[in-house]
Order: sequence, then C-alpha cells, then structure tokens
Amino acid sequence: MDRLRITGQTPLSGSVKISGAKNAALPILFASILSKEKSVIKNIPLLADINTTLRVLDALGLKTLFKLDDHTIEIDGSSLNSLEAPYELVRTMRASVLVLGPLLARNGEARVSLPGGCAIGARPVNYHLTAFERMGAKFDIEGGYIHGKAPNGLKGAFVRLPFPSVGATENTLMGAVLADGDTLIQNAAREPEIADLARALRSMGAKIEGEGTSNIQVKGVSELKGMNHSVSPDRVEAFTFLASGLITRGKVTVEGIDATYLQSALELLTQAGAKITNTPNSVTAEFVKDLTKVSFTTEPFPGFPTDMQAQFMALLTQAKGTSHISETIFENRFMHVPELVRLGAKIQIKGNQATVEGPTPLSGATVMATDLRASASLIIAGLAAKGDTLLRRIYHLDRGYEQIEQKLSQLGAKIVREHEK
Ligand code: EPZ
Repeated sequence: MDRLRITGQTPLSGSVKISGAKNAALPILFASILSKEKSVIKNIPLLADINTTLRVLDALGLKTLFKLDDHTIEIDGSSLNSLEAPYELVRTMRASVLVLGPLLARNGEARVSLPGGCAIGARPVNYHLTAFERMGAKFDIEGGYIHGKAPNGLKGAFVRLPFPSVGATENTLMGAVLADGDTLIQNAAREPEIADLARALRSMGAKIEGEGTSNIQVKGVSELKGMNHSVSPDRVEAFTFLASGLITRGKVTVEGIDATYLQSALELLTQAGAKITNTPNSVTAEFVKDLTKVSFTTEPFPGFPTDMQAQFMALLTQAKGTSHISETIFENRFMHVPELVRLGAKIQIKGNQATVEGPTPLSGATVMATDLRASASLIIAGLAAKGDTLLRRIYHLDRGYEQIEQKLSQLGAKIVREHEK
C-alpha cells in the first residue's frame, strides 16, 4: 500500500498542465465498441481507471494499444468476441456498465455484472435499463449479472430520464447512435463530458444534436467508422489545483482548460474572496485576502459539481465564518469529514448538510482516503496543516489523478509518495 507524506504551509505558485478528463475518457473508450474499425483516442490521462477500462475492452476481445508517451490509445474494433463485462472488473470500476449501450447497439446482446454499491452511495442503474427497454431491449437479472437482449437491434425512442444522470445519458446516447430510427433523450445530463462524448461519436459518423442541453436528438445510422478524437480537459483536476493554491495563500494557474468548464466553481471561489483571472486556455486563482464563508448546494451541471464538493469543503475550513454545504447528488459523500476533523477542522454533519466553521488551524496527522475525491480533499487540507500529514490508501487517488504528487511538487508543495510495509 502506498501513502503520501505532505508537509504543509508552503505557498504554491506556478502553472500546471491539466490532463484529459477521466469522466470523458471512460465513456469515449467504451464508445469504440460501436465500430468494427480502428479508433484513435488522444489526450488520455494515465490513471488506474483507464487501465481497468482497457482490461474490460480486452475481455470483450478488442485489441487495444496504449501509447503511454503519447497519451494515446488505439483500439481495433474488428475482433469483438465476447458480450460479457465480468464481475471482477465491474466491481473495481462501476463505469464499466457503460458497455451496455454499445454492446446492445452493435450485437443486440450484453451481459454486465451489476456494479454493486460504492463508498459514496448505492448507485443503481435503473435509469439505464429503463431507457434501453424504451428502445426495445429486454433484461434479466440473474446471478448478479444484467443480461440484456435486443434481438432486432435497438429502436429509436422518446426517452425521458427521471433525473439528469450522467451515466444514463451516456449509455442511452451510445445505444441510440446505431438504433433504427430517431431518439430524443429528454432531461439529459448537461455535463461537459457528455458534449465530449457526442463529439467523439460524431467523429465516427453519428448524427447527434443538442448535447450540452437537456434535450439530445439522435438519428440512428446503420454503422459507424472508427473514432478519431482528443479527450477534453479534466475540470475536477483543475479545481483541485486551484483550491490547493488558495489554501496555501499562493497563486496557481491551470493550463489547457478554459473557464467555461468551471463556471459555477469560479463564481463561488470569487465570492469567497479569491482573485480569478483567465485566458482562453488557462485559469488562475490567486490568494489576495483572507477567504470568507460561502454556502453552496451540489447540483447537476451547470450547478456546482458534486465531484468538487470535498475539495471545496477543505478550502472552506480556512474561510472566516460558517459555510453551509448541501450534497444533493449522492447519499453518502461526506466521508472526508471525519478525516478532516482529525486534522483540526470544525465540521458538523446533519443528513446531507455539512456546516464548516472557519478559519481553524490544521495540524498534520495520519488520515485515510475513503474515495477518490475525499483523497483530494485531504491533500488540500494537508497542504495547509502545520507539520506532516500522512494520507493512507491512496489507491483511491490513483484512480482519478495523474501524477498528482509530481504536479503539486512542481508548484512548490512538499509531498512524497512512500511505500507502507
Ligand atoms: C458520473 O457518475 C461520474 N462518474 C461521477 O464521478 C459523478 O460524481 C457523477 O457522474 C455526477 O456528476 C463518471 O463519469 C465515470 P449519475 P454516474 O448517474 O454517471 C442516481 C468521480 O469522482 N442514479 O449522474 O454514476 C445516482 O445514484 C465520480 O469522478 C440512479 O438512481 O452519476 C446518483 O445519486 C464519482 N439510477 C445520481 O443519480 C441510475 O440509473 C447521479 O448519478 C443512475 C443514477
């Protein structure tokens, strides 16, 4: 098991290049299943979840080549010879459920292990299944597997999502592009990763309109050519570095991303007293005065993203006053709180509401990562804490952040990876 040792209270400064977005790369890689030809996907982040995705594609028989130095993956879609995403892979990465749409669309059948719950919530996939049933698929759930069949292929349909689910929107979109007829996805998720997936599908010849709005229209086509696409930047990684700069009273620029990916977050950082400036391809957050309290609720895009909640909470432990945070997307996404309290934070939880008193002096301690974004929250707090913070179980972190300790060191942070005996 690895752990990170963070020695706090060094102001961060400088600029850091943002990697491709994990939450765009995963669906885009699965979309390559839709074509029998070769797909080339660039700006892939070097993450554990990408490796897991490649193992799922390998299990389906597709030949994959990851050119690490170029951050590029080539996938040969011609050799699909299985329809099953196995349990041991799906349980390590629930996004594997995104093979459902492509497999049903291409071969009219799929067997995918039920993902099971995860640290932050039950995370059912009922919206995905209901959408495909509207498109003519039938499902049996047996032995912990979803077995879906659409023997005559998927049919275009009117699909209204009960909630703007990111995964359900992506799965439905990938099913619709090869369906027979037109599909309208109403109440679709509007996250930038959806628009990125649509651009990747369009490079294959898909006919899609309205991505980024609540209504996505798709004209099914009979086949798709190989994809040629470069993944959009990771807005959650970018926010993590901006918050790291601010909590250390520094000034950090994230390169390779434009402010539109971070709009709601930048508005709140400004409200808290940060100085935010940007260019068409970068965003800078500068500490210019003591931060003050901010209250927010996590919402579907364009609202404040749940994936940035834990990181912002860490920052608000250093803001003057009482901040109120309401987590409305996942039922259990406050597991970073007890660990932040170990560092000296004053945070109360009541249901899905957290109250943060600030500013509180933080002092280093041994803390434990419980999930991906909680890990980032503890790093941010450790950067402000007096002394050393030891962050354990950082396999959670490696799922979603490429070389985070190298990037933070580049900004002046004292952070090293150690092997625990
Ligand atoms: C995606 O998860 C992201 N993961 C999550 O990022 C992100 O937090 C989430 O979207 C919300 O933005 C990837 O893109 C790989 P949802 P997803 O479907 O698609 C409920 C990270 O840290 N729901 O929008 O699973 C669900 O339980 C990860 O990078 C159903 O009830 O999120 C949740 O409460 C964490 N039934 C809410 O909807 C369904 O069929 C939003 O989930 C589907 C979802």
